[in-house]
Amino acid sequence: MEEIYKKLREQALEARKKSYCAYSHYAVGAALLDGDNEITLGCNIENASYGATNCAERTAFFKAVSEGKRNFKAIAIAGGKEGEEPVDYAYPCGICRQVMREFCSVKEFKVFVVKSVDEYEEYILEELLPKSFGPENL
Ligand code: THU
Repeated sequence: MEEIYKKLREQALEARKKSYCAYSHYAVGAALLDGDNEITLGCNIENASYGATNCAERTAFFKAVSEGKRNFKAIAIAGGKEGEEPVDYAYPCGICRQVMREFCSVKEFKVFVVKSVDEYEEYILEELLPKSFGPENL
């Protein structure tokens, strides 16, 4: 499992290179691991109408879910100035945390926030989104 998590971190850094961040010049990449141990990548996609921007994490989730992938185990996220290596940790925004909540176990889903392959922080979703509202509340 450690090997695949390492690959996930590498892939998040790789996904950053596809970022379309014409306005913020802040490039984010995400790599999402599903129940079949397949990885779906995402990047942030900005828009001249700023509110139409989509975060890297949601790009990865929406791609994966739309392809029938489920049982997500982990996501790795890397962000920083376009064209440069990350210097800080890029934590997922509130909307992306809530999207994770819809499809993932708060106690099991791992979130890797990545500066480089070997420099990262690891959380479970519940640490990032405590006392949350989810599908079983309806
Ligand atoms: N961004 C993400 O891709 N993920 C996050 O969780 C936070 C922010 C993107 C959105 C926008 O393109 C840029 O970072 C600056 O906010």
